[in-house]
Amino acid sequence: MKTYKIAAINGDGIGNEIVPAAMEVMQVAAQKFGFTVETTSFDYGAKYYLQHGDFIAPGALGELKKFDAILFGAVGLPEVDDRLPFKLFTNLVRTSFNQYVNYRPCKLLEGIQSPLRSKTQKDIDLVIIRENNEGEFVQNGRVLYPDEPYGLATDTNVFTRAGITRIAHYAFQLAGKRRKHVTNVTKSNTMIHTLYYWDKVIDEVREQYPDVEYRKMYIDAATANFVLKPEIFDVVLTTNMLGDILSDLGGAIMGSLGYGGSGNINPEREFPSMFEPIHGSAPDIQGKNIANPYGQFLSAAYLLEHIGESEAAKAIVAAVNESTTAGILSVDCGGNSSTTAITKSVIERMK
Ligand code: NAI
Ligand code: MG
Repeated sequence: MKTYKIAAINGDGIGNEIVPAAMEVMQVAAQKFGFTVETTSFDYGAKYYLQHGDFIAPGALGELKKFDAILFGAVGLPEVDDRLPFKLFTNLVRTSFNQYVNYRPCKLLEGIQSPLRSKTQKDIDLVIIRENNEGEFVQNGRVLYPDEPYGLATDTNVFTRAGITRIAHYAFQLAGKRRKHVTNVTKSNTMIHTLYYWDKVIDEVREQYPDVEYRKMYIDAATANFVLKPEIFDVVLTTNMLGDILSDLGGAIMGSLGYGGSGNINPEREFPSMFEPIHGSAPDIQGKNIANPYGQFLSAAYLLEHIGESEAAKAIVAAVNESTTAGILSVDCGGNSSTTAITKSVIERMK
């Protein structure tokens, strides 16, 4: 029997509720489809930082590298400086493990009424491919004389030919397996150095994919089109910060941030990839058993797809859709089902 080693990192807040629930769902899928998942849990995150002075243990990256994949919740707590979670955990793992693809599908679940009332699952079915290792989030800047009248702050974006080329190839290849359409979401009319270069390198890559249709769209227009005409999008190729913002909008048109799953993917498989919901640690609702776990379940499905267990992944996605169709919804979506009740509903449907 095939055995996979999965690291589970709950992180903070509702991660402590929804990651264990997703591991349960994954175990049921493993039993049903005849493979073994060996899980090791790590208590890394902002709470760990309060106790140990860092988000992870010394040597943790070397330890995590041995796993086939990582299932992650989110990190961050109100009592911890919110500049730290990204720097000391999320971005650290994403860059150390060359997870340069942030794969963020946005597909309306069955039985869910989108806030866009006339839209159905066939209209809302796109994937955001967010560049995940450079761009606006490289944290390359400084603050000078912060308390003086002449204080100043800089953040210099970094876009490299290699970085743009590899994410563009990923997006065009994915589009080839979907509806064969890529929209490059950019802002090259105003970011005339970095994003003009971004567009230019994408133009070079797209010549290698003549059967994939291509369109360039500015981020401001794209946000309007996500709401008015989501059906025009198939694969959305975009930068680190623009993709971060657009994917919460994607979650919103699905009806809740809690429905979005994602993967931080290292396509070359030199390092484990890490799968997490698109939302944060939601400390405002932690410990109440009301968190929406569907996005974490979908993240577990994308993890299984990535390690080669496609049938198990499809079974989770199907069980999630059956469960939402049956109206088993959390409070953020107008329902009254608890996290544990939703987990039970999905597990029963898997069996
Ligand atoms: P958030 O996504 O945690 O929460 C935004 C709102 O959506 C809150 O009202 C929350 O209750 C609700 N929400 C989110 N997920 C939900 C779910 N599964 N079910 C029901 N309701 C849900 O974003 P926020 O409040 O901006 O950030 C909270 C903390 O999370 C911060 O420390 C932030 O830095 C961190 N964060 C971490 C991320 C990561 O580790 N990848 C990503 C985004 C934020
Ligand atoms: Mg985000």
